[in-house]
Amino acid sequence: MYSMRSQQSELVTRGLYSNNKWEALPSPTSPEIHQRACIRLPSSLCKPSLRTYFDWDDSGNEDYAKRPALLDLFAGGGGAAMGYYLAGFRIVGVDIKPQPHYPFEFHQADALTYPLEGFDAYHASPPCQTYSMMQNIVKTKEKHPDLVAPIRDSLMATGKPYVIENVYKAPLKGHLRLCGTSFGLRIIRHRYFECPWFRLELLPPCNHSKVYDPWHKDGVGQREKLSTAMGIDWFMTRPEVREAIPPAYTEYIGKYLLEETKRRREN
Ligand SMILES: C[S@@+](CC[C@H](N)C(=O)[O-])C[C@H]1O[C@@H](n2cnc3c(N)ncnc32)[C@H](O)[C@@H]1O
Repeated sequence: MYSMRSQQSELVTRGLYSNNKWEALPSPTSPEIHQRACIRLPSSLCKPSLRTYFDWDDSGNEDYAKRPALLDLFAGGGGAAMGYYLAGFRIVGVDIKPQPHYPFEFHQADALTYPLEGFDAYHASPPCQTYSMMQNIVKTKEKHPDLVAPIRDSLMATGKPYVIENVYKAPLKGHLRLCGTSFGLRIIRHRYFECPWFRLELLPPCNHSKVYDPWHKDGVGQREKLSTAMGIDWFMTRPEVREAIPPAYTEYIGKYLLEETKRRREN
């Protein structure tokens, strides 16, 4: 349990506080974040390219098939997906490009036209170039259409709980900001999450001292350092790591999302 007085943040402005006292409550099911633990995946997920990076566990296959299913749109190398897996979801990923390092079931397709039926929950990470500050400077916005609004429309039409993740300035509604340092990771990576179907409890605030700052260092080993700092245990190329989010973010959100999907299954 964490608490901190007299600090302001976006969380405060969104009403996730009481009596001017911050509290980070454990998430409802299992509170611990597993990023430092050795990850075991059911061997039904085993891809040759990933065998080196994970422990495979045959005993998990049947249970995995019964898990609530999450569709991971704009899947990339699977940073977000891994967090939802650790939270308890069965994962299906969709990306317009081949993603040979994605650790779960994968379909190469356009997220805007992929059929959405048959899933319990959704996550979408549309490309963030549209909203990045650099993009404003180079004025090539027309090359990167806004995909947040159309994907939100599609996800809302399912009536199922969804999460949309993006960067500062993206047109998210009622979003929550997460940072690696709130999870004990040595990386500052602010990402914003629109998750209208459930309420998250507060996390500890950012602590930007003593972090690895990959954006101002480069050279040999930079990819590995960035992967490690983000809690990504499997191989991703440098562009994939740069676009990924730390799995800890979606493991945290995923526990609340899982509770919401289970509540709906029971009703
Ligand atoms: C920000 S990255 C996703 C990162 C991922 N969530 C992670 O944590 O590793 C955005 C991804 O969207 C993909 N993408 C772009 N347009 C797409 C579309 N129309 N349909 C599906 N994927 C698309 C890109 O290929 C890229 O991999």
